[in-house]
Amino acid sequence: MPPGGAVVVGSSNGKDCSYATARSFPVKLSRPLLFFAVLATGFLVAPSLLFLGGGRAASSYYGLPSLPGPGVLLAAVRSAPCAEEKEVYRWWARPPSKSAWHNMSDEELLWAASFEPRTAPPPRPSTPRKVAFLFLTRGPLPLAPLWERFFDGTGGTAGSGRKLFSVYVHTTPGYRLDFPPSSPFHRRQIPSKATEWGMPSVVDAERRLLANALLDLDNERFVLVSESCIPLHPLATVHAYLTRSAHSFVTVVDDPGRDGLGRYPDGLAPEVPVSRWRKGTQWFELHRSLAVFVAADGRYYPRFREECLPRCYVDEHYLPTVLTMEEPGSLANRSVTWVDWSRGGAHPARFGARDVGEEFLERLAGKKEKERCMYNGQPVEVCFLFARKFAPGALQKLLQLSPRILGY
Ligand SMILES: *[C@@H]1O[C@H](CO)[C@@H](O)[C@H](O)[C@H]1NC(C)=O
Ligand SMILES: *[C@@H]1O[C@H](CO)[C@@H](O)[C@H](O)[C@H]1NC(C)=O
Repeated sequence: MPPGGAVVVGSSNGKDCSYATARSFPVKLSRPLLFFAVLATGFLVAPSLLFLGGGRAASSYYGLPSLPGPGVLLAAVRSAPCAEEKEVYRWWARPPSKSAWHNMSDEELLWAASFEPRTAPPPRPSTPRKVAFLFLTRGPLPLAPLWERFFDGTGGTAGSGRKLFSVYVHTTPGYRLDFPPSSPFHRRQIPSKATEWGMPSVVDAERRLLANALLDLDNERFVLVSESCIPLHPLATVHAYLTRSAHSFVTVVDDPGRDGLGRYPDGLAPEVPVSRWRKGTQWFELHRSLAVFVAADGRYYPRFREECLPRCYVDEHYLPTVLTMEEPGSLANRSVTWVDWSRGGAHPARFGARDVGEEFLERLAGKKEKERCMYNGQPVEVCFLFARKFAPGALQKLLQLSPRILGY
């Protein structure tokens, strides 16, 4: 198949794309032409196959031989919103697919994500960098009405906010999310597998979410949330806080106790020496470069998957340990997700309708307590952007209070 113009541009080292070829892609890809050909055709055509060419979809994701010619590729690009706004066509500006669903296996998906650029493309006026919200759920999203309000409420028209984020939902396999086209959750379910609390399958799901979100080039920050999470600030604030941060928000604690160092599996040595063992919480926020690292990690993750079994919990140790080993300077060492462990036990406190009041929400949003956190080296009052866990019964109270207290 003759490669489209896109591929030709990508293979030269023209100024426009040198940032991508020179720095971001692994050196081991000695055949960039083939690589770009697969990327450009695969990702541009996959969505158009899904939505335009129903008959051809049976050829599945890797059915390259039956791909339509470059004309169709360009048509797909031209119909993207950026073309309407008279922006110059860039070969890398592949439109995000309209559905998060696909036919890739986990292996194919992680492979594809592993050589995604580690930085988002240079900003284009019509496409601001996006925050990808990764919902790790069992299925139903009882707080969806609150999130929908959060996603749509960016001050301006509903449309303008839609460009600041994307949504990916991991559910129990077989569960079907059913949201109308007007909802930000519409068609955002990804192919999912069963997860078991405290087991590596949970981190498998997190990597699956990350890998899916990496395929959209405009996603720059990746935040893991659950169905019991709520946002504590308006979308514009959350977006600015994350995209302007020099650090990724991952809790990192060097805990010498029984629930820290005590969980170190000897089998991890020598790759992960005991001195590098760290503990954190599951709810991460990652910059694109760290997200690519996690999706591509064939060095540490397989070892953790094998060795870190209860009472070692992969979801509490893998990211803090490995990211501190690899990229300590890019971590804030704290989380942006508030959670209350004060009631003790293996699970944090869960809040229902009776717990949710004005003062409680004000405290979480940082309006009452002047607790300070470091942000880009400066003390700030906003420490948390999200909070958990909230029971479905708290929804009405939250909807009632959120416009005044949380600003959306
Ligand atoms: C996935 O592949 C099957 C056949 O293998 C096909 O029927 C289906 O339409 C494909 N789905 C997507 C989303 O591509
Ligand atoms: C987080 O901890 C690492 C050491 O583990 C350190 O290098 C880094 O500067 C810390 N981050 C911040 C924002 O202080």
